[in-house]
Amino acid sequence: MPIEVKDSRVENMVNPLGIDSLQPRFSWKLDSGESGQKQTAYRVLAASSRERLERETGDMWDSGKVESEQSVHVEYQGKRLESGQVCYWMVMVWDKAGNASGWSGEAYFSMGLLEREQWKGRWIGERRTGERHLMPCPYFRKSFSLNKPVRRAMLYATAFGLYETHLNGRRVGEQYFAPGWTDYHTRVHYQTYDVTRLLGEGDNAIGVVLGSGWYCGQVGMMNRNTYGVSPSFLLQLNVEYEDGTCGSVVSDESWTMNSGPIEYACFLEGERYDARLEWDGWALPGFNDGGWRKADLFEPYEGKLEAMPEPPVTVTEKMMPADIRRTGRGTYIVDMGQNMVGWLRIRAEGPAGSEITIVHAEMLNPDGTLYTDNLRLAAQRDIYVLKGEEENWFEPHFTFHGFRYAEIAGYPGELKAESIIGCVVHSATPRTGRFETSDPMINRLYGNIVWGQRGNFLSVPTDCPQRDERLGWTGDAQIFIRTASYNMDVSNFFVKYMKDIADAQQPSGAFPDVAPDAGWVEFKKRDHLKWMAPDNAGWGDAGVIIPWTVYLMYGDQRILETHYEAMKKWVDYLLATSKGLLRPDHANYGDWLSINADTPKDVLATAYFAYSALLFSRISGIVGHTENEAIYADLFERIKQAFVQGYLDRQSGIIKGDTQTVYVLALYFRLLPDEWAPVAARRLEALIQSNGNRLSTGFLGVGYLLPALSENGLNDLAYTLLHQDTFPSWLYSVKHGATTIWERWDGWTEERGFQDAGMNSFNHYSLGSVGEWLFRYAAGIDADPRQPGFKHTLIRPRTGGRLTFVRAEFESAYGTWESRWEIRNGVVELTVRVPVNTTATVYVPSGKAEVPAEAVELVREGNDRRFLLGSGCYSFRYEWI
Ligand code: BGC
Repeated sequence: MPIEVKDSRVENMVNPLGIDSLQPRFSWKLDSGESGQKQTAYRVLAASSRERLERETGDMWDSGKVESEQSVHVEYQGKRLESGQVCYWMVMVWDKAGNASGWSGEAYFSMGLLEREQWKGRWIGERRTGERHLMPCPYFRKSFSLNKPVRRAMLYATAFGLYETHLNGRRVGEQYFAPGWTDYHTRVHYQTYDVTRLLGEGDNAIGVVLGSGWYCGQVGMMNRNTYGVSPSFLLQLNVEYEDGTCGSVVSDESWTMNSGPIEYACFLEGERYDARLEWDGWALPGFNDGGWRKADLFEPYEGKLEAMPEPPVTVTEKMMPADIRRTGRGTYIVDMGQNMVGWLRIRAEGPAGSEITIVHAEMLNPDGTLYTDNLRLAAQRDIYVLKGEEENWFEPHFTFHGFRYAEIAGYPGELKAESIIGCVVHSATPRTGRFETSDPMINRLYGNIVWGQRGNFLSVPTDCPQRDERLGWTGDAQIFIRTASYNMDVSNFFVKYMKDIADAQQPSGAFPDVAPDAGWVEFKKRDHLKWMAPDNAGWGDAGVIIPWTVYLMYGDQRILETHYEAMKKWVDYLLATSKGLLRPDHANYGDWLSINADTPKDVLATAYFAYSALLFSRISGIVGHTENEAIYADLFERIKQAFVQGYLDRQSGIIKGDTQTVYVLALYFRLLPDEWAPVAARRLEALIQSNGNRLSTGFLGVGYLLPALSENGLNDLAYTLLHQDTFPSWLYSVKHGATTIWERWDGWTEERGFQDAGMNSFNHYSLGSVGEWLFRYAAGIDADPRQPGFKHTLIRPRTGGRLTFVRAEFESAYGTWESRWEIRNGVVELTVRVPVNTTATVYVPSGKAEVPAEAVELVREGNDRRFLLGSGCYSFRYEWI
């Protein structure tokens, strides 16, 4: 079978609309039945029309035959791309023998509105005064006619607040919570929709509903009206007629507005919808809006108006309830069987004015009532008022909840499972990882990690989805990003989030704890929080770790270039505010939520300072700043020395603090001279053993705990911790029925029940950062920083513990990697799948081994034999030791 091109993408998206990069990057995957296959050359054709592309005329760009293996992030180098332009493209490649593939299937992308002048509309909305909360959502509408047949219609829209657009009575797109969360003071994203099929020649109507969202709703525990008080939007419908002429419908003073059935909507409070207030046909032509008033006009926006780079928030799954139970109070308790994020869609029929109330919670109290203490100020309550007609489905528009259970009061008639649909809602990052073992408990743990990600990746990576917080905590994000990148394609999600982090960087260079900054920096200055430091080790370092990880996992160099100066500022800031290269012992979160093991803040912060300096040195080399590469490599060495000098007792080998985390960080960040690393590993082992083979690490230590053990000859102990199911451990929550990762090791314990209600989320992903170890070590699929994005991959499975098999798949930008091992009769059978145009180095323990004929043996590394392989599917067999 000749080599074949598939899955072509632009900026990591399939046929994206409204991008604004003038040098978009093309990627494709390759397929071949032949082993060791790769690309040796490519040719990209881009055309301004489908017909031209069919004729193989690349009037926009014809790259010609380029001798290159590059098949990921190939930069467009054609004619200047213009606003609204649709570009069709295809690619062909040559394989290792110089044989050409056919052309890929046609793909396309369209450009957004690149210049401010091209936005012809005005910002319109509802002008509000004062800081009022829970206001009715305003509805806006306009009728218009199109007097010629339409060839294409593109809708561009954004808002301060959240918007939903309707065209001729139909909702536009499947996206929720558009335009997403950014620091609206600095930037706002717009979305592009192809609405050709929603329009027709003649009379048309367009409608918009606005919610408060992050802009003027309650955000976190800090603020309402964080960015403003009045919701507004900017919209432009560009129509191209069959005859080649164009026209636009835009948001302006000709729109009318009114309040409608959504009496209020707030992320934390919930939504109240009174169906009696519905306007039938409000977004249809011919609707009489005589009683509606003119929309309010707003000033032009001075910040950055950019195309949304990340995947939209959508409903990604619909679930049936696992159980419905009637309570003595006449209410129903619905159990979804899974702690999830989104909302319930509910069917009801009843007399006008009947009020159905749904309260959402993650857990139940021992008496079977909802456990809501951990929600703090978030009511998570949706209310529907019926209008007394035939049955109807209800769901909220501008809110979401974190819940497994819901209590439903006031439901008319008997509530049946068929009348409830659980809508799972998150940023639609495509699934890329699968992981399974012989142990159902580990499989559930892995499932919980994925659910934790689904529950919290909603426009930004949030800490939790239920209580009055839901903020983009940077520490949580950085510790989890590598796990997240195995599970799903989060490249664009983090490209966007890194902008949020950069937008929230302080003038001093300090990267934030929370991004987008929703007033947290100001909040911290208040009296009772004045003790808090402006920077936080392990939180601020996200500003370096996140771009680095996106580079490593996706081969995206642009993110490093874009944020190079911001990263430099952070490391320079750390240097300038250190004493003798040690970070001060100032108040920060430390190894947050560790168990009886407080890691000294200065040790932790100095370790992270070293790590940021090291990564920044590597990053400098990658983007061509060789001078800085050397300067910051030297800085790393000097911080190491200071660390050893300041914190290592050379008599005993004890590092200041003597917690599991100090050794984990010292080992994983390579802060110790070679001779001291084994001493630290032994001390770490002893600490774990004397703790009953249990961990004590918090958010920061936990991410590197098992990697540090496996890397330092303690792989068996890593498995012991993985299998541990007494408190504190990963499987403790699994044993007690958890379906997501808990915020705390002690969120609920047998002895004491629920803990610390103020800080007790049952859907936080940070402690789920062990997912990285499952892929990198248990399955052994690991990125090679020298050929990032899995162009070359290290396959080094670590068998161990009670596992008799592990099966992992990971869909990289090049295609699917697979590592599968099974132990039979003392023999490990390892199957490895390597995508076309990549190579792998497979590590096999020394000893007897059967290896595939294609494998080329490399120089040994330690005790391991190493084999180089090209693409294909291979089997190894070796003794299990
Ligand atoms: C959040 C955490 C966050 C932390 C900072 C908490 O309230 O839920 O996940 O990282 O604050 O310590």
